[in-house]
Amino acid sequence: LILYVLNGPNLNLLGVREPDIYGRETLADVQAMCEAAAVGARVVFRQSNHEGQLVDWIQEARTEADALVINPAAFTHTSVALLDALKTLSIPVVECHLSNPAAREAFRHHSYVSLAATGVIAGFGPHSYELAVRAALDLARRAGA
Ligand code: DQA
Repeated sequence: LILYVLNGPNLNLLGVREPDIYGRETLADVQAMCEAAAVGARVVFRQSNHEGQLVDWIQEARTEADALVINPAAFTHTSVALLDALKTLSIPVVECHLSNPAAREAFRHHSYVSLAATGVIAGFGPHSYELAVRAALDLARRAGA
């Protein structure tokens, strides 16, 4: 089983960026948590600040991945391009957020990505990723991957 975990803009600064909201764990810590949670699967873990790069990786996941976890970060609330790319996938897609966007500013309340997500996990800090990884792999296995 191959699981893609994709991360959007500014998540490379995790740990130093607004730690009161996003916590002190770094993206490397989150990657280690994902790898530990992905029992029996290989994790392809990536981050980009560039929308087009994320679109390219989603397209790659079409043929390479059995499941996808994505934290689109700010692109969650802006990107029709990510939504359209995700709509081309037939694998489980779990949208993942460290914070709970529904409990924050109004501009974070709408997610384009949710329109193409199988489900959403938000608000548990780095543990959101663990839960998302488990959910994505569980769905992939149920689908026979
Ligand atoms: C985020 C929430 C987004 O609203 C924000 O733009 C981020 C991170 C989260 O993980 O909580 O960059 O996706």
